Amino acid sequence: MLFVCLGNICRSPTAEGVFSAVAARAAPSLLARVDSAGTAGYHIGEPPDPRTQAAAARHGYDLSALRARQVALQDFAQFDLLLAMDRANLAALQRQAPKSTLSRVQLLLPYCGVDEPSEVPDPYYGSQPDFDRVVQIIEMASTALVARLQSSRVV
Ligand code: 4NP
Repeated sequence: MLFVCLGNICRSPTAEGVFSAVAARAAPSLLARVDSAGTAGYHIGEPPDPRTQAAAARHGYDLSALRARQVALQDFAQFDLLLAMDRANLAALQRQAPKSTLSRVQLLLPYCGVDEPSEVPDPYYGSQPDFDRVVQIIEMASTALVARLQSSRVV
């Protein structure tokens, strides 16, 4: 499972950390391959944004060990699912994906069965409530995703 956003410093590291914690509690076998990456390379090597780390910490998640990286071609072969935070990330992944792996590329929230919202909004130019909202949306999505994976045994 590869979570993907633009910079890999706000939304997708939150998804990596929160999904890992939720899955560890509910279904440890789902944890085999969980990672995150960005479609852009602006922040390679950086830890999550301090505002993202603070929002995650307020909800009980420690993201401090994560470091940003960019999506690479081999990710499409190595991950069964590449889950994009918004439609722009989805389109970027679909442009990059080898044709045979296109079905692995999905929009996170609809894939989890969440219809509203359908995208995790980019908090980068926002303020604290926007960062807290990202954690809330991703907690909801992670719970739904664990249930979906357990019932379909995709992982
Ligand atoms: P993310 O947020 O895609 O959730 O990590 C962003 C991080 C950095 C930028 C934009 C969004 N940026 O423009 O540098």
